[in-house]
Amino acid sequence: MRVLITGGAGFLGSHLCEQLLKQNHEVICADNFFTGSRRNVLHLLGNPDFDLIRHDVTVALSVEVDQIYNLACPASPIHYQRDPVSTTRTSVVGAVNMLDLARRLHAPILQASTSEIYGDPEISPQSEDYWGRVNPIGPRSCYDEGKRCAETLFFDYRRQYDLQIKIARIFNTYGPRMRIDDGRVVSNFIVQALRNEEITIYGDGKQTRSFCYVDDLIEGFIRLMNSPPNFTGPVNLGKPDEFSVLELAEIVIELTGSRSSIRQLPLPVDDPRQRRPDITLAETKLGWFPQTSLRVGLAHTIAYFDQVLSAERKTTASV
Ligand SMILES: NC(=O)c1ccc[n+]([C@@H]2O[C@H](COP(=O)([O-])OP(=O)(O)OC[C@H]3O[C@@H](n4cnc5c(N)ncnc54)[C@H](O)[C@@H]3O)[C@@H](O)[C@H]2O)c1
Repeated sequence: MRVLITGGAGFLGSHLCEQLLKQNHEVICADNFFTGSRRNVLHLLGNPDFDLIRHDVTVALSVEVDQIYNLACPASPIHYQRDPVSTTRTSVVGAVNMLDLARRLHAPILQASTSEIYGDPEISPQSEDYWGRVNPIGPRSCYDEGKRCAETLFFDYRRQYDLQIKIARIFNTYGPRMRIDDGRVVSNFIVQALRNEEITIYGDGKQTRSFCYVDDLIEGFIRLMNSPPNFTGPVNLGKPDEFSVLELAEIVIELTGSRSSIRQLPLPVDDPRQRRPDITLAETKLGWFPQTSLRVGLAHTIAYFDQVLSAERKTTASV
């Protein structure tokens, strides 16, 4: 099959490109490199089944493919808040453009949605029938509301045009190829620990998160895309184990053998207290359950950042 992945040069997208190529598909990766980079897919460029195109999803795209994964959108708060208007535009106009393409091609399309559509939830764990508690006018709203609107568009294209849609609500996912300056908790802690800098925790660190390793998430994406046409989701993809941010910091310090200490900073606006997926639907409909333990996933991620930081140190030393 020929598959289009928007945002394919980003963290999740690059792993998805790699996995689909391993499964002998042809992959077209479209990215405007806002947060992604050619470096993430450099090792794929020699593969005759792989095409990389610089493209912004807010502009219509014309390619011939059998499936579309729509991942284009910055995912980390510091990056999506850098240009909030463009974040909403990417989510909403980008979704319309990709849905129009899917409609013309009669191709199934998968949307990378997010647990952020639940906002600061009143219930835990969150299941797909929970409508969420989202601030529509805060600094995170460009992302949360953009993704909510994209879900609406997906369902309206299904109702109006009978399009085959799939919606994955992704919970915190981590792994190699996150950016050093990604700004999300796992990469922040690892980079700070490897540099023996203070580990910064927002608030008291008792807020909880669930962390899914990237390989597991990609497996969930592919299972969802290839699920029966009448299964649309939304479906939660994430790891149900809950860890406090403080616990995560302690595990990272232990695994890196770091001398870092922990420092508390004020909590950002609208930071959710609790985030944990109910993945019963993914388990029953997709037979999917994340396999990688936090310690194993962190070890892979630490090894990756260690390599990136030592390459950086060598470059600085030689200048
Ligand atoms: N990683 C997670 O934990 C997580 C959680 C929930 C949802 N998601 C969703 O998954 C998707 C991928 O996230 P990620 O973690 O890989 O983030 P990422 O920032 O690494 O990847 C996003 C990619 O989209 C590209 N992009 C942004 N705007 C674009 C535009 N207008 N046109 C074309 N390309 C554009 C970026 O350059 C980047 O390569 C995003 O849609 C994100 O919202 C991720």
